[in-house]
Amino acid sequence: MLKPDIRDILTMPGDGTEIIVEGWIRTKRESKGVTFLEVNDGSSIRNLQIVIEENLSDYGSMVRDLNTGASITVEGILTDSPGTGQVVELKARKIDMRGAAPADYALQKKRHTLEFLREIAHLRPRTNSFGAVARVRSALSFAIHRYFQERGFIYVHTPIITGSDCEGAGEMFQVTTLPLDQVPLQNGRVDFSQDFFGKRALLTVSGQLEGEAYACALKKIYTFGPTFRAENSNTSRHLAEFWMIEPEMAFCDIHGNMDVAEEFLRYIFRYILENCPNDMDFFNEKISPGLIENLNAIIQSSFQRISYTEAVEQLLKSKASFEFPLSWGVDLQSEHEKFLTEKIYARPVIITDYPKEIKAFYMKMNEDDKTVRAMDILVPRLGEIVGGSERESDYEKLKQRISGYGLNPDDYWWYLELRRFGTVPHSGFGLGFERTMQFVTGMQNIRDVIPFPRTVKSLEF
Ligand code: 4AD
Ligand code: MG
Repeated sequence: MLKPDIRDILTMPGDGTEIIVEGWIRTKRESKGVTFLEVNDGSSIRNLQIVIEENLSDYGSMVRDLNTGASITVEGILTDSPGTGQVVELKARKIDMRGAAPADYALQKKRHTLEFLREIAHLRPRTNSFGAVARVRSALSFAIHRYFQERGFIYVHTPIITGSDCEGAGEMFQVTTLPLDQVPLQNGRVDFSQDFFGKRALLTVSGQLEGEAYACALKKIYTFGPTFRAENSNTSRHLAEFWMIEPEMAFCDIHGNMDVAEEFLRYIFRYILENCPNDMDFFNEKISPGLIENLNAIIQSSFQRISYTEAVEQLLKSKASFEFPLSWGVDLQSEHEKFLTEKIYARPVIITDYPKEIKAFYMKMNEDDKTVRAMDILVPRLGEIVGGSERESDYEKLKQRISGYGLNPDDYWWYLELRRFGTVPHSGFGLGFERTMQFVTGMQNIRDVIPFPRTVKSLEF
């Protein structure tokens, strides 16, 4: 007998075909002589209605146990549904209770807050919202791979454990097997030579540096993996563990970089609208009204490109009052980023040529000696979702920049060597996967677009 997913059953004709359905009960409705179940198997946001008539053996005792949350297998025939709200329904012939769900099951009929659901991260995928997030997350990952694979980019697996700090921001988790209650010391400092790797090891904040090595051989590469930041930022946009997509392209300058980033974002947004219609309708209706219209507008428009200097001028000219005062040289805060995308330009904005002091050491310096060839992409509601740049490809300049940041060039010897042998202009960017998920689904909090979020002082699951 066929055992189709509910997603597929909902498109089948109600012609009496015998099928088997497996899933979890969402609701039960009893009326005279008949019981209706709504069953969900995760393949779709939509449920299948199961009809149980009282002539089924053990009707009374069985129906009593068929509670919200229980898992069941149902054998039955698919028929056209006379009721409204569904096209087909399954007339049960045989029901097997696989796992009961007693009355203390947390997800009863009422709608729960997202905050409450965060406390039961192991059960929340059984709700409409988190089922939809999981499906869109999967589709978005696929769309990202598809975009790059179709264009000849090579997927590179960069390491998770690293010895170098890519962003130079020092917000890294350490990895060690040293006994923390008895750390070996030498001259008062931790003796990392006794540690697993014989030196200090960290969780990566970005795969970029290793990605550059591969781009300087394979020309177009991308990474897509977990990254870690020990930032003490308790915001709705920061995680300690998040996923990043980092393309890197040789023979490509900052302008080519921006063109790819813009085309890429439009491609993945369109992919989700075309391939996740039911889930996107749900987000549009229940989570973020206007979402689909906004995404469509973005797919059709081009992004605004301005320099950091122009951005600061526009913000100062607006006379808006900000919590963080602004002047040339300071980093843009999310309130500034949102004001630019929402109020001034009403679309995504790419900001280029930031002051060198507020950006990483690897970015190519402009002729003015003050700004670097950075490019950040900001979107309404969230601010920054992409950070990228053209890289410094000159050996001497890069070495000076590393020292200028108080870093030791010896630690970056292999990264510097890429500039000694066949160096080439190259560029890339990093897209925050969860911020993209927030943007696509309209979910407000980044903790709700990753299955088990890791944030400051929070590691329950
Ligand atoms: O701007 P960032 O720090 O850039 C880099 O890491 C570069 N190495 C990328 C590159 O050029 N290859 O981070 C890139 C993006 C940000 O724009 C943001 O979307 C996301 O990563 N991001 C975070 N997302 C969630 N939680 C955090 N703590 C994040 N920090 C950065
Ligand atoms: Mg950034």
